[in-house]
Amino acid sequence: MRELAVVVGTRPEIIKMAPVVRAATDRFDLHLVHTGQHYDDEMSGAFFASLDLPAPDENLSIGSGTQAEQTADGLVGVESMLTEREPAAVLALGDTNAVLSTAIAASKLPTAFGHIEAGLRSFDRTMPEEVNRVVADHVAEFSFAPTEQAVEHLADEGVTAGVYETGNTIVDACREHVPLAEERSDVLEELGLPEPYVAATIHRPHNTDDPERLRAIMGALDGAGAPVVLPAHPRTQSVLDDLGYEPTGSLELVGPLDYLDFLKLLDNATVAVTDSGGIQEEASILEVPCLTVRPNTERPETVDAGVNQLVEPGELRGRVETLLEDDAARAAMTGHPDLYGDGRAGERIVDVLDEHC
Ligand code: UD1
Ligand code: UDP
Repeated sequence: MRELAVVVGTRPEIIKMAPVVRAATDRFDLHLVHTGQHYDDEMSGAFFASLDLPAPDENLSIGSGTQAEQTADGLVGVESMLTEREPAAVLALGDTNAVLSTAIAASKLPTAFGHIEAGLRSFDRTMPEEVNRVVADHVAEFSFAPTEQAVEHLADEGVTAGVYETGNTIVDACREHVPLAEERSDVLEELGLPEPYVAATIHRPHNTDDPERLRAIMGALDGAGAPVVLPAHPRTQSVLDDLGYEPTGSLELVGPLDYLDFLKLLDNATVAVTDSGGIQEEASILEVPCLTVRPNTERPETVDAGVNQLVEPGELRGRVETLLEDDAARAAMTGHPDLYGDGRAGERIVDVLDEHC
């Protein structure tokens, strides 16, 4: 059987790659590589268990570091793996440093590189993720674009060969795991949650690395008119610890949640507040109104459809209150669960590789 190498490095890549791994299992010999960018059990290992994934065949253990350190360590590790194994293709997903390392390594070797979630653009080059996306898209042999708009972004940059519109594998993952989450997770009872409540996450450097901005976001959530549960990313928790920040009002900080617990928390929330890419998508799929604390988004279809609003920290408390109190405002921000496809993205990606590799 032909070998297919799959590289992941962080929490969202493990979640979104799972449907591809599942679809590829009977058709390819899989070699699953974890770069080790995320390494805490609650940011990595727990997801292999929740998603019923095989353990990685190798872990490059790159750990935390600067952008260059993570990219360089990943590059050396992925190059060595590709040189030794010579798989038919290597896949990476999204916009993290694992994607950049994989793209550069494969571009100088015979192995074809397939970029999943190709063509997303925030048009904000201050985000490391935007640089990673652009580089990956320009060296990929296979570009698996989730939406028509992503295909157009690629075409605007002259990338037209090997482009396939597949939908986003987040839909596959959600469809498969929401019923399991509803059945198995006790997170709402554990957190003692009444309705309504807000599910929040914040982890982008733009929000965490500016203490005033982070305090303003936390202050808005702490003063909301309903409980707000925020499973804190380690980046965020570490800054909050340095600031000595403790919520005193409606905000409850908890550690990162397992995937089934997080899906249940999000699915039953009245409002989502986030700066996460994946959670903007999941909120639209699960029909939870989403407020995104960022000046821009590479998921503009959610904003265009009216299910996601970009907000600044100063506006956040007011917007949350409106959504908590006003049924019509909430209803106006739902009703587009299909922006990212039909839940068969993983299969489509593997079909393309099966035909061309
Ligand atoms: C990375 C990705 C980002 C993605 C996010 C998903 C890049 C450039 N960034 O950002 O696109 O949205 O993952 O969550 O690739 N840490 C731990 N334990 C861990 C992992 C991280 O404590 O298991 C802490 C370390 O202090 C580390 C910090 O979190 O320095 C940031 O981690 P890092 O992987 O560098 O970036 P993320 O913010 O997670
Ligand atoms: N997620 C999770 N537990 C949490 C927070 C998020 O399982 O405590 C999941 C969430 O369902 C989504 C993904 O992690 O699928 C998003 O990851 P993150 O926000 O870290 O990265 P991004 O999508 O912004 O790259």
